[in-house]
Amino acid sequence: MTKPDWWYDEFRHFAVDFDDPQQVAAYDARQGTKLAGERELVRRLGITAGQQVVEFGTGTGAFAQAAAEVGASVIAVDISPAMLAYAEKRAAEAGLSERTSFVREGFLSYKHNGAPADFIVTKYAFHHLPDFWKGIALNQFAAMLKPNGKFYLEDVVFSFSPDAVESSIEAWIDRVGSGQSFSRADFAGHVRDEYSTYGWILEGLIERAGFGVVERDYTAPTYANYLCMKKR
Ligand SMILES: C[S@@+](CC[C@H](N)C(=O)[O-])C[C@H]1O[C@@H](n2cnc3c(N)ncnc32)[C@H](O)[C@@H]1O
Repeated sequence: MTKPDWWYDEFRHFAVDFDDPQQVAAYDARQGTKLAGERELVRRLGITAGQQVVEFGTGTGAFAQAAAEVGASVIAVDISPAMLAYAEKRAAEAGLSERTSFVREGFLSYKHNGAPADFIVTKYAFHHLPDFWKGIALNQFAAMLKPNGKFYLEDVVFSFSPDAVESSIEAWIDRVGSGQSFSRADFAGHVRDEYSTYGWILEGLIERAGFGVVERDYTAPTYANYLCMKKR
């Protein structure tokens, strides 16, 4: 169905880096993504064989691989053809193609067919949507899940007071933006041009969409993760 002319075009807004094969190949090393960490997350979430997992913003597909390794059936969604090509190759090399499918769609455009999912996971991607559209996407997530299905969100999330914005953002950028992987400009661009938001706003949006937050972890003033369960 055609969307109205006011609908958010998530394909138009993706960062150019994510469609550059060289950037994609370097992504895991820059980001510090390790398969061991993804396997640990799969264990923490309790994902098991036979379950249906939908991952949004799969990127290089490390989490998708870890979930498929335990026998889950994974739908890996991303708007970037270069990321999807990398993730698909990774799954093939790991012998996991049968349990992993790759879909070029976004948070808003993806349509779930088939049985309701057990898990929806998204890591470091939800900040690509403005808050209004996050609310729409969360509603769609709830509709895709089984009753008591789980939703896991991890991202750059702000939990400092607005009074402390300058010192908090500067402390973060000093800590993470001075190494070889990411520069000050990368993090300044994230704050200025992307849509990371306050934890209390995210929690409100999550709860309004019909989820309960089962575990919340504000790992730093600029990072958080939430494990949520669909209530209805
Ligand atoms: C920072 S990367 C995170 C990748 C991976 N989840 C991780 O934890 O390393 C963000 C990913 O989200 C994807 N993305 C951006 N906007 C999106 C959208 N509207 N829907 C789905 N994926 C999106 C990008 O193409 C990119 O692969």
